[in-house]
Amino acid sequence: MQTAKMAVSLSLLLGINHDMMNTQYLDQISDLLDQMTLSEKIGQLSQFQTPYGQIPENFKQQLQNGDVGSVLNEADLDTITEMQRIAVEESRLGIPLLFGRDVIHGFKTVFPIPLGQAATWSETLVEQAARVSAIEARSSGINWTFSPMIDISRDPRWGRIAESFGEDHWLTSKLGNAMVDGYQTDNLKNHDAIAACAKHFVGYGAAESGRDYNSVNICENELRNVYLTPFKSACDNKAASMMAAFNDLNGVPASGNEWLMQDVLRTEWGYDGVMLSDWDSIRQLSIHGFTENDKASALAGINAGIDMEMVSTTYADHIEQLLSEGKIKTSQIDTMVKRILLLKFKMGLFDAPYTASEKFPELVNDQHRQIAKEVARNSCVLLQNKHNVLPLAKDDLSSVALIGPLADDGYEQLGTWIFDGDEQHSVTCLQALKAYLGNDVALNFAKGLATSRTTDDSGFNEAITAVKQSDVAVLVLGEESILSGEAHCRTNLDLPGAQHALIRAIKATGTPIVLVVMAGRPLTLTPIMDDVDAILYAWHPGTMGGEAIKELIFGEYSPTGKLPVSFPRNVGQIPIYYNQKHTGKPVTDDNWAFIDDIPVRAEQTSMGMNSAHIDCHFTPLFPFGFGLTYGELSYQNLQVKTPSITPEGALIVDVELVNDSQRDIIETAQLYIRDLHASVTRPVRELKAFKRVEIKANSRQPITFILQASELSFYNQRMQKVLEPGLFHCWIGGDSQASLQGEFRVI
Ligand code: GLC
Repeated sequence: MQTAKMAVSLSLLLGINHDMMNTQYLDQISDLLDQMTLSEKIGQLSQFQTPYGQIPENFKQQLQNGDVGSVLNEADLDTITEMQRIAVEESRLGIPLLFGRDVIHGFKTVFPIPLGQAATWSETLVEQAARVSAIEARSSGINWTFSPMIDISRDPRWGRIAESFGEDHWLTSKLGNAMVDGYQTDNLKNHDAIAACAKHFVGYGAAESGRDYNSVNICENELRNVYLTPFKSACDNKAASMMAAFNDLNGVPASGNEWLMQDVLRTEWGYDGVMLSDWDSIRQLSIHGFTENDKASALAGINAGIDMEMVSTTYADHIEQLLSEGKIKTSQIDTMVKRILLLKFKMGLFDAPYTASEKFPELVNDQHRQIAKEVARNSCVLLQNKHNVLPLAKDDLSSVALIGPLADDGYEQLGTWIFDGDEQHSVTCLQALKAYLGNDVALNFAKGLATSRTTDDSGFNEAITAVKQSDVAVLVLGEESILSGEAHCRTNLDLPGAQHALIRAIKATGTPIVLVVMAGRPLTLTPIMDDVDAILYAWHPGTMGGEAIKELIFGEYSPTGKLPVSFPRNVGQIPIYYNQKHTGKPVTDDNWAFIDDIPVRAEQTSMGMNSAHIDCHFTPLFPFGFGLTYGELSYQNLQVKTPSITPEGALIVDVELVNDSQRDIIETAQLYIRDLHASVTRPVRELKAFKRVEIKANSRQPITFILQASELSFYNQRMQKVLEPGLFHCWIGGDSQASLQGEFRVI
């Protein structure tokens, strides 16, 4: 430690600039490496979880021996400080520890689940949420988060869609980078910065049948044009680390996949960050049947260059033997250790290994709550608003019924992957409505159902009585948080339990119904669409969810959320996503045959021979990018200013946004393109830009999109990134089904 510390202090004293500091680091790393024993090197490659808040005697010994590079899932500051002290002051070389934890969408102040944050379509809000998360996590000693999760998720049966930014790689790339920036700031040495970890590399969201950990088969062209894109973006954005996926990818598990981890990540991309295994994922290589045993798994992980092993100990148990048998080289181990040491130097841990508690604000402070509320409010998506039942006007009401098992559950509204969130800080819908309505408007609350899953309808009568006494019924239904997240996949995406029956029982009263849905995924709402007047999709909105929802349904703000994922009409449509391919037999309303319209004994070829299901319309229930607001917006006068562009040029396209309502509106305008003819089939639409526009009541606003021609490139059959000349269409609108169209050529 003394050697490393003196060297860093010296270089700081000499005022060596940042880049030279990196070079300086490499010199220091080499010096340190030369001093390290094999055991100490293996220690850096190992991440261990210990009993929370404890330092078992044998683990203290491991720390003193330098056998630990990182600790997982400790969040007690005193314990972390003591562990760090032992590592830094009592081990031979004093190499500081990384303390990792899943701070996925907040630490103590909980933000909407990432899928909900994606619905804000706001890099600014996502970065702010990550910044608050980092400040609160770092104040507790955590200096590494296993976030952002940037797996492309096209299958809502998969529970982990909740953690993702949805189905589109362009939106995921932008928001993933915003989250990394929020965690890491512009300098990892900042006292409140934490290292990010882009995960899960790669393809995890394409698990067959939406079943977690299941096999993934994606051709290289689709990998490069879709699934790898957000990770390349994270690499270029200097994400400090990445995490290997559990799944096998085209027959080779990611945690042992040399093509992926060496050829693509290291050689092609030049990524020098740390690659962390997922929990036990290296040892699981033998369970996949990819290796014979733990020793072979360690060999596979090392050859792939998985730098640090999370929890399992195949490296600790077998590296020495693998070296002595000549199956691996010391240089391979040194390369892995260097990447870990480089991260620790970049984070300034050799100089400042401890958390400077005095520099941190209190947890869940008013500013953090305000940001959480703003993110939650902007994450809610208005899916339906018949007869403009929303916004409710407090002055026009004498009573409101609030119904549902999620209307007053501060725990469930936090969502999945909440290790440190605390329901005591939550503001529920009931609490928010009580405070807002006060004594002016009667609030009649009944859960109706004990949980979102129960089929026990004994609470219906109380709910119906409450509704009959009220001018309007606000139902807060959906999924409990445990029904989404890791390993929580579903084959039926309807509202669980007896919620449909509850809706129908309340509909029978004739009272207008506002349905608020809390869920970790798109649910199939088709069965209840006609039974409710308005639908506000709140995902799992986090600590301030109740306040945010109240502000929207009573019109203090207009909804701004836009869907980051398509909503299927039923599970049979899955996977359904907007940027699908055209196929050679595309379906249109002119050639689609609905099952009920097909005559008995019809000739085999009498129906439309096209790519569709005969028992379900071929469009989603709600498309990617969709979201209503309290106003009438339209897009007019699209003008392509550059009908021909060179590969060095840019597309410039103008449009007018028109707001015919009496309300100031925030709209996310979206630009989509289609490459009509290319050397590989291209999607029917591709999101290429989006803009958050504030437009005053009764006004028109010009919007201009400028898109560099290079953004139109794609990987061809030979996996070369190319931009081919030809005709393109473009659309600008409020969702992926925008009809206002233009065209241009790349020449
Ligand atoms: C899990 C997850 C991963 C998480 C890790 C540590 O199994 O796959 O996303 O970061 O373990 O909790």
